[in-house]
Amino acid sequence: MTTLHQRDEGTSAVLESRHYHERAKARIAGGVNSNVRLSGSPICFESGTGSRLTDVDGNVYVDYALGMGPNILGHAPPVVTAEVARTLAIGQLFAGQHTLELELANEFCSCIKSAELVRFGLSGSEMVQAAMRVARAYTERPEVIKFEGHYHGWFDNILINQTPPVAAQGNPIPRPHHLQSAGQSPHASEDIVVLPWNDAEAVEQYVGANASRIAAIITEPIMFNTGGILPRPGYLEHLRRVTKAHNIVLIFDEVITGFRVALGGAQELYSIRPDLSLFAKALGAGFPIAALAGRRDIMELFASGGVNHSGTYNANIVSLSGALAALRELSANGQAAYRRINAVGKALMDGIVAAGRRHGTDLQVSGVPSAFHTCFAGHPIHDYVTYSTTDQKRLGRFLAALLECGVRPTSRGTWFVSSTHTDDDMKSTLDAVDSALRQVS
Ligand SMILES: Cc1ncc(COP(=O)(O)O)c(C=O)c1O
Repeated sequence: MTTLHQRDEGTSAVLESRHYHERAKARIAGGVNSNVRLSGSPICFESGTGSRLTDVDGNVYVDYALGMGPNILGHAPPVVTAEVARTLAIGQLFAGQHTLELELANEFCSCIKSAELVRFGLSGSEMVQAAMRVARAYTERPEVIKFEGHYHGWFDNILINQTPPVAAQGNPIPRPHHLQSAGQSPHASEDIVVLPWNDAEAVEQYVGANASRIAAIITEPIMFNTGGILPRPGYLEHLRRVTKAHNIVLIFDEVITGFRVALGGAQELYSIRPDLSLFAKALGAGFPIAALAGRRDIMELFASGGVNHSGTYNANIVSLSGALAALRELSANGQAAYRRINAVGKALMDGIVAAGRRHGTDLQVSGVPSAFHTCFAGHPIHDYVTYSTTDQKRLGRFLAALLECGVRPTSRGTWFVSSTHTDDDMKSTLDAVDSALRQVS
């Protein structure tokens, strides 16, 4: 593996990337096209194949960012790209239907057990909007409960309290709104109630007193937008019980967990049947597609035309064929892809934990083998508040040192594993972890 260390002293290993970034900033706001990419090293990539990325300076990286999760079959997976290439010639958009839509819907619904009806779109952000809208229409109630530390897309009405300040005296319940962006309308999120996550009592109390106003609870089933925090045993079951008891729509936001933690998503892993759930990322294995699915009686509100869900590019041929090929590959050979992903991911998690111990650090590894998170903290982490006191500076240095060694988790410390990560990747990754820990310990 080429590592960034192999450059002569005094020369930058990412010189071309830096030059590109300067030129790009003169034409593209910030030189990037998603604010998430403003953080971390502004590397310009040339290409990706399997588990590896090559940048414009010729550096090669073992990639665990995987496009922020989607590339579960690695970069440019031949079974997917060949299928997309094959369908390019039939056209892209018809402002009408194509038989691939039903083919994908059948495949999708055979994977996701709670999916009685489905709608396809392009991004997780818009499917969150559709989910909240249809839940409000179904229940004829206004409020939606979201949780502190969770992210459900960048639209005004939901982009709140992902990274709120933590008050010394503890934050009140429900949490005061913290808008995440300048220019956001404070009115758009008036009907959103923010509660701490993994806190069954907070939900019990708020819902107990306000049930008649609450349309839905939306949750990431595993909190990946703050650390990689698992639900406490019984927590998701508790959400299911409380929502059922009060006719509140339970929405799982499986944009990250869907088709990643299991073919049937986190709802399969935890054996919970949400009323609605939404998917993106791994569903398209790199091609842009998202889905909202769930109970027939709720989803039927789209069918009647009473609840609007629209989009010029929804169910375009490229997205459909990419997703269909991806789902077939993920299901093939008794789900061999997941066996590989979970084996590699578990070995990495175990190896990183062992390296942390060897170096006497407080490195923590949490999550599941297909998606896990590394951070530095001497205390247990179970929610946003306990995560907020992890050592972010040391994490930043650790991630920078890994990048220097040619290993690339996401800039916030999440590692996504693909079916194409090799034993060699694993070995060089654990060597890099060892070297990075030596530098930051
Ligand atoms: C849990 C979750 N929901 C929604 C979104 C928004 O999805 P998209 O970026 O496709 O709009 C994301 C994006 O990372 C996410 O992690």
